[in-house]
Amino acid sequence: MKAAQAWRLSMKDMQILPGPRSRPHLRKPKWIIVLVTLVSVFLICAYIYPPNNSVACYMFSSNGCNGHSHWRPPPPAREFSDEEIASRVVIRDILSAPALQTKNPKIAFLFLTPGPLPFERLWDMFFHGHEGKFSVYVHASKDKPVHFSRYFINREIRSDKVVWGKISMVDAEKRLLANALKDPDNQQFVLLSDSCIPLRNFNFVYNYLMYTNISFIDCFIDPGPHGTGRYSDHMLPEVEKSDFRKGAQWFTMKRQHALIVMADSLYYTKFHDYCKPGMEGSRNCYSDEHYLPTFFHMIDPAGIANWSVTHVDWSEGKWHPKSYRARDITSELFRNITSIDESVHVTSDERKEVQVRPCLWNGMQRPCYLFARKFLPETLDNLLLLFSNYTKA
Ligand SMILES: *[C@@H]1O[C@H](CO)[C@@H](O)[C@H](O)[C@H]1NC(C)=O
Ligand SMILES: *[C@@H]1O[C@H](CO)[C@@H](O)[C@H](O)[C@H]1NC(C)=O
Ligand SMILES: *[C@@H]1O[C@H](CO)[C@@H](O)[C@H](O)[C@H]1NC(C)=O
Ligand SMILES: *[C@@H]1O[C@H](CO)[C@@H](O)[C@H](O)[C@H]1NC(C)=O
Ligand SMILES: *[C@@H]1O[C@H](CO)[C@@H](O)[C@H](O)[C@H]1NC(C)=O
Repeated sequence: MKAAQAWRLSMKDMQILPGPRSRPHLRKPKWIIVLVTLVSVFLICAYIYPPNNSVACYMFSSNGCNGHSHWRPPPPAREFSDEEIASRVVIRDILSAPALQTKNPKIAFLFLTPGPLPFERLWDMFFHGHEGKFSVYVHASKDKPVHFSRYFINREIRSDKVVWGKISMVDAEKRLLANALKDPDNQQFVLLSDSCIPLRNFNFVYNYLMYTNISFIDCFIDPGPHGTGRYSDHMLPEVEKSDFRKGAQWFTMKRQHALIVMADSLYYTKFHDYCKPGMEGSRNCYSDEHYLPTFFHMIDPAGIANWSVTHVDWSEGKWHPKSYRARDITSELFRNITSIDESVHVTSDERKEVQVRPCLWNGMQRPCYLFARKFLPETLDNLLLLFSNYTKA
């Protein structure tokens, strides 16, 4: 009878057949042992080679295929919506099309600023002598700037209000990209702010961006409250929590990626609706830090560098990064920043995990940064004095 008990127990554990009932015609223990052996062998086989159709499911599972039994087939891959299918084919074809070849490839410098650009004279030094290899676009969201440099005059595009942390920031980035895409010579698109400065001379920047086929879009997993903590389930099913990424907004982007940003409305709409300040009460989400990192992680992970070529110093551990003052501007500062060849990300959870990765350019470890922020306007004179020295290399 021990065997019968064991049989009963094991059948209960596995919930295979409807409740155990004694079978009157199987009285002898021998029969039972043979039967148990056969059933066990069968169950083991069936466990190793799960039945593959619904008939098998219903035959061998006490609660059919919808219950929590071993026999449930793996859930089918999620069925894509019409919008997702459409979005995926457009993105796939843009990515697989050869890059547009032009005789005169240029870099588009996109300045996102509330008003005047305090470092126009520095940028003027940077651009000087490289006419024809770049174009400048300015999105001044508050005050119309007065320009000091011929490279900036009449380069303003139609702008709209930009509220920090809101989707209007992403809208302004898209407006800059759209205007710059009108010129087919523009092959790389660099987003800069009014507090950004160049760390390298023009040729260095040009070669760094033109002779690689990835976009420098910052992207990492931050499991903390300022990362994945900002995710909302409303983004399902298209954007899963495990795909949610974070990154600084200051990108460089190749033309194909800029086109894809123009083509996307599905994922943009998800962030527009569900990633904004004051989501669900107190939760703040900032689309400019999450939309592009998450989007490119999902659609072309190998096509982005995962770090930004614009340096910023968060080492003070405050809510805002370090702002450089006039007295900070020294050769040593530039030597330090331009020699960094590892990207560092710090998570916002209690562990404050530091993720360090080499900056790989076409597989070679190289300095990470071409630009830097945040510089106060008072640094201009010192920067003008030092510029030709620190950009010599
Ligand atoms: C399930 O059955 C289908 C055909 O009905 C077959 O193509 C597939 O390989 C089977 N899968 C397994 C895991 O046996
Ligand atoms: C960026 O990270 C993704 C993983 O999210 C990885 O697949 C990709 O190769 C990385 N990009 C580069 C250029 O290493
Ligand atoms: C430059 O780096 C060195 C070594 O890490 C550090 O001691 C020094 O304070 C840095 N100087 C500046 C100006 O950042
Ligand atoms: C760049 O594109 C070529 C093919 O055109 C490919 O072989 C190479 O791996 C790509 N490099 C990077 C860094 O993605
Ligand atoms: C120029 O840069 C070198 C190092 O690259 C430094 O030693 C020198 O002091 C700098 N000159 C000035 C005027 O700052």
